[in-house]
Amino acid sequence: MLYGADYNPEQWPEHVWDEDVERMREASVTTVSLGIFSWSRLQPTPTTWDFDWLDRVIGKLHEAGIGVNLATATASPPPWMSVEHPDVLAVDENGATYWHGSRQHYSPASPTYRRLAAQLVTKLAERYAHHPAVVMWHVNNEYGCHLPSEYSDAAQTAFRGWLQKRYGGIAELNDAWGTAFWSQRYGQWEEVMPPLKAPYSRNPAQLLDYHRFMSDMWLECYLAERDIIRAAGATQPISTNMMGAFKPGNYQSWAPHIDVITDDCYPDPLDPQRPRNTAFQRDLMRSLKPGTPWLLMEQATDAVNWRRTNVSKQDGQLAAETAQSVGRGADGIFYFQWRQSRAGAEKFHSAMLPHAGTRTRTWQEASALGGQLAALPELPQPKDEDARVALVFDWENWWAIENPDHPTTLDYLSLVREWYGALHRRGVMVDIVPPEQVSDRHHLAIAPFLYLLRDEGAAALTRFVESGGVLCAGPFSDIVDANDRFRLGGFLQQLGPVLGVGLEDFRALPLPTATAIAERAGTAEIDSGGDHPSSSDHVELDLADGTTLRGTHFAEALWADDAEVLATFRTGPSATRPALTRRVHESGGQAWYVGTMPDPAGLDAVIGRLLHEASVAPVIENLPEGVEVARRGDVVTVINHGPTAATVSIPGTELLTGEEFGSRELAPQEFAFVKSAITS
Ligand code: GAL
Repeated sequence: MLYGADYNPEQWPEHVWDEDVERMREASVTTVSLGIFSWSRLQPTPTTWDFDWLDRVIGKLHEAGIGVNLATATASPPPWMSVEHPDVLAVDENGATYWHGSRQHYSPASPTYRRLAAQLVTKLAERYAHHPAVVMWHVNNEYGCHLPSEYSDAAQTAFRGWLQKRYGGIAELNDAWGTAFWSQRYGQWEEVMPPLKAPYSRNPAQLLDYHRFMSDMWLECYLAERDIIRAAGATQPISTNMMGAFKPGNYQSWAPHIDVITDDCYPDPLDPQRPRNTAFQRDLMRSLKPGTPWLLMEQATDAVNWRRTNVSKQDGQLAAETAQSVGRGADGIFYFQWRQSRAGAEKFHSAMLPHAGTRTRTWQEASALGGQLAALPELPQPKDEDARVALVFDWENWWAIENPDHPTTLDYLSLVREWYGALHRRGVMVDIVPPEQVSDRHHLAIAPFLYLLRDEGAAALTRFVESGGVLCAGPFSDIVDANDRFRLGGFLQQLGPVLGVGLEDFRALPLPTATAIAERAGTAEIDSGGDHPSSSDHVELDLADGTTLRGTHFAEALWADDAEVLATFRTGPSATRPALTRRVHESGGQAWYVGTMPDPAGLDAVIGRLLHEASVAPVIENLPEGVEVARRGDVVTVINHGPTAATVSIPGTELLTGEEFGSRELAPQEFAFVKSAITS
């Protein structure tokens, strides 16, 4: 288990470094990420370089037995670069330039930026590739953070090249983008632009391609640095830190190129759905490289500086959040950052070593946690069979479904997390994957709001059902092709046959009111007055057994051509029409379709039935409210996130103490790792 933090020694005089190293040992730090924002120190002028200080820091760490995750320092170019080479700077959609003075102000498409970054990385790689302290490489930092999209001349040129590679000729581009609409036809490549400021709705296929292009630009920057590091003979793993479900970066397409997935996670202590949302993030990271551990590359020891209000974590919350990462596949826990900054925009951000010193709760918790993690026996690798449920979450679909001009406005991540929540509450392990990665290791696949469905994805979902899996799709799924165009013949053109249903119309419902949203999140009293959801926000549907469920967002008008109707809309624009259907296949596979977004109780009911049909069991049955479990091979992690003590029974022995776990009362924030005979 690796343990450590971002270390920014260039912010401190050298005599502090010795104290740092001593304290790191006290806190059981094994590894630090070094030099992430050091470019202006390493290359103070265009022609001068200074590696001596870095040699000295690495030397001190090495002597103390602390490993280095060496950063390539390319995330924040020095001021001289913007002055000498303004073509490195990013530009917004209105043409305004982003200048230095903060960080991450460069265009990833700029050939000059890439050339200067390559020069720096070459020097670092050649100098340190064989240094025994360097255990890993940290390329750039949080690609796309702060500047998810940019529109410089460099980006424009690169975008045209990217499109030429994707489509070949201008005629193919016109076809893919549907430019016969609104006189948008392009005669030559010079007319093609990034989606710049325009008076009204822009071409959705162009917007979608710009998302793809930007994500590919960050990946190209990563690959260029990775190749330089490898060419210098480095054999250590190479990574770049991700940010969970970060919309601008299609991590599912990046993952194959990254040796070990590393993630930054900053949950808001005030988020009532925090444990669910962080569990989702960890499972998403684990699913990027199934069967391999990942590293939590950044979390805060306590408060951050960048929200409107930056509240502290509760006592024990840091350890509980750490246990959640470990239980869901992390083999290393790191913080931003080691020592709290004295100056700069992040001086109020917490750190392992706070400004107020070692008498603090933060220091005591973080250093004790280091000791605890060090005492853990080696954990099993996450295993394929840990999760039998695949929840489909797809970046291209995310980009496309949130384009404007749709029947309603959808927050794809929130909606998918609600489906995830119903599984999480029941203690069921979930893989979070694009449709192509649903496979026969899964028994149940859930694909909500899969508006953009690629041919390969549809083929994988169909194969899954035909080989005996249980699939639940909908609502608003299988509507457009990879270029955001309707498929000819209507909707559900790919999954319709397997589902046995046709889709006549979407019948969007008014968006749930603020109160309704708060109710879903568990933060509002049901009868809080004023803006209580009006009856038109939701519809009611009746299941055959007499249960009534509620649905929001859509009440789709479905034809159950070759499917059993499990529930019918009772109210709303599709009253009397099918709401939930199932087609049972000869293989034993089942294809379910749901024409609305069930409310939390409805989701729980639907999930309960799906789990039953797919014979998927939770890690532990009947969890008390607020208690989470996860499986990692034969280790079960249990955490009480709730405000009161809760009793849980798990057969097995506790990893840290070797004692039988049995039935145990867990205090709020208490957790345990239990070696257990339970299997999936
Ligand atoms: C991350 C970043 C760190 C630090 C941290 C503060 O996004 O990688 O350098 O700024 O946020 O929470």
